[in-house]
Amino acid sequence: MCIRSKSLFITEAEKEIYQKTVEFGQEHVFQFWEQLQEKEKQYLLNQLKEIDFQLMKDLAEKWILSTPETEVFSQIKPVDVIPLREDTHPQEREAYECGEEMLRKGKVGLFLVAGGQGTRLGFDGPKGTYPVGPITQKSLFQYHAEKIINLQNRYHCILPWYIMVSEGNEKSTISFFKENNFFGLNSENVYFAVQPMVPCLNEQGKFILDSPYSIAKNPNGHGGTIPTVVEKGILKDARNRGIEMLSYFQVDNWAVKVADPRFIGYHTLNKAEMSSKIIRKNSLREPVGVHCLCDGVYRVIEYSELDIYPQLLEMDSTGNMKFFAGNPAMHIISLDFVEMVYKQLHLFPWHKAFKKIPYINEHGELIKPKQPNGFKFETFIFDALRFTSHPPVAVEIQRLGEYTPIKQYDGDNSVLSARKSMTQFWGTWLKKAGYAIESYLEQNDNFYIEISPIFSLTEKEFLEKQKDYKWEITKQGIAINKDGTISTLL
Ligand code: UD1
Repeated sequence: MCIRSKSLFITEAEKEIYQKTVEFGQEHVFQFWEQLQEKEKQYLLNQLKEIDFQLMKDLAEKWILSTPETEVFSQIKPVDVIPLREDTHPQEREAYECGEEMLRKGKVGLFLVAGGQGTRLGFDGPKGTYPVGPITQKSLFQYHAEKIINLQNRYHCILPWYIMVSEGNEKSTISFFKENNFFGLNSENVYFAVQPMVPCLNEQGKFILDSPYSIAKNPNGHGGTIPTVVEKGILKDARNRGIEMLSYFQVDNWAVKVADPRFIGYHTLNKAEMSSKIIRKNSLREPVGVHCLCDGVYRVIEYSELDIYPQLLEMDSTGNMKFFAGNPAMHIISLDFVEMVYKQLHLFPWHKAFKKIPYINEHGELIKPKQPNGFKFETFIFDALRFTSHPPVAVEIQRLGEYTPIKQYDGDNSVLSARKSMTQFWGTWLKKAGYAIESYLEQNDNFYIEISPIFSLTEKEFLEKQKDYKWEITKQGIAINKDGTISTLL
């Protein structure tokens, strides 16, 4: 510790912060203090003011300085899942109509988590700005926005869109929305909120400096939804608008059905606090969380923990996966429930990840480590399911047209597979409308189809509307725009 004396700190506030760092063994963050400009000193002090020192101490003690015990469950059981059913099934119809009613009454808000760092995609910008549309180059954000526009027109309602961003991508996300005129949405109904950050810790449980005046931090995970909703004005705004529940989704899935009436309906009819969509896992080790009941408590166990709980890899007597309920990360969360969980936030579990965290050496030079050197801590939204007082609702969905997340450029769950799935999904609509596309599909691997969700959100809507058009499809594919005009690749 280079700092020579406490007298270097002038104001009472500075002294108080310094004292706190001493109390929690983190005073090394002041090692460059004497060389800092006034502005830099303020930056560091402000960062320190935001930190929950006690929490960081607890996390270090539990996760770094001792080996946390693996949770042992005497019984892990599959959850009950509402299965896929025909649209005409009475319960399905009831749910759908109930959901539509909630939308018409303006009871639903949208919550998008877009604060992640998107490192795996290797894209320099917020993931939501990624131009996923193969012909139109539409971004993920635009796909989501177009669905919202369709729903608002259909149900004559306003769907306020709350978007959780992080310190690192707030500015670029907001600029992107402005540059694109909010994709036609009213900007008054789009609300950006920055999620809390957590300091990274080194292997001794100490804060890591990534510049002489700043502490390395990471966004606190999508579990940051709970404090963000309550502390960043979303709860208040939503209550003022008469919203009762949030339709929660991730930015990386172009196909997600935002504010799906069927899902909202099942949630509402079951008086659920938090509900989840379920995808049937396509392999035992598919990298998705698994919904299950651990000693009676509803949990999602992450794919990275499958070997700790090998029961989750068991097959049933018919040769099917016993625990098929994969987590596509789509939820309905009631606002009352958010408030209830917020009151118990100290009980919300944390998860750690050992990562490569850039740091500065004793000369103040930035080093990018080649091996993991520190810990990031995150909370996960699905852990809120543990706080439910009665069984949460789990509703099975089809993958096609609902779940094709983008985690990387090529391979499974990639940009390329998402583009293929668009063609497959919208291709069935065109085929049903009498367009012959098979030969194009066979001849050209890069034949793509896009249909603006403003033009049609569902097959039924499309089959009705397309009657007024006659489109010419080329071997490159076709993109049907919001007004029924078409775009093709040059
Ligand atoms: C996640 C889920 C997994 C699920 C899968 C479905 C976790 C730990 N696991 O995996 O159960 O089956 O999605 O695709 O999430 N985000 C924030 N702030 C953060 C961190 C993340 O807003 O601090 C957002 C990201 O922007 C993204 C979403 O959360 O929209 C998911 O993050 P990601 O890291 O992609 O999760 P996965 O590991 O792919």
